[in-house]
Amino acid sequence: MYVCSCFGVTEAQVRQHAADGACTPRQIASASKAGTDCGGCVRRIQALLGRGTCPRRELIDRHAPALEQLDDAA
Ligand code: FES
Repeated sequence: MYVCSCFGVTEAQVRQHAADGACTPRQIASASKAGTDCGGCVRRIQALLGRGTCPRRELIDRHAPALEQLDDAA
C-alpha cells in the first residue's frame, strides 16, 4: 500500500528506510523523497515511525534536540 502517492513510496519502503536508520520524516524524505511534494503523507509517515518501526526511535525521543541537529546536517 502506498504511503506517498506523489512518489509511489510504499509502507514497506518506509519501514525499510526506518530499519536502515531513517528515524524522522525528514530522514525518510532524504532517503525516498516521500513527503517532499504535497506533504499529505507526512502524518502517515510520522504514524509509521511512531509505531516502533525504527529501532532508534526511543533514542530520538530522549535526545530530540541533538539528533535534530544531526538530521539537519544530513
Ligand atoms: S503524498 Fe507524499 S508528498 Fe504527496
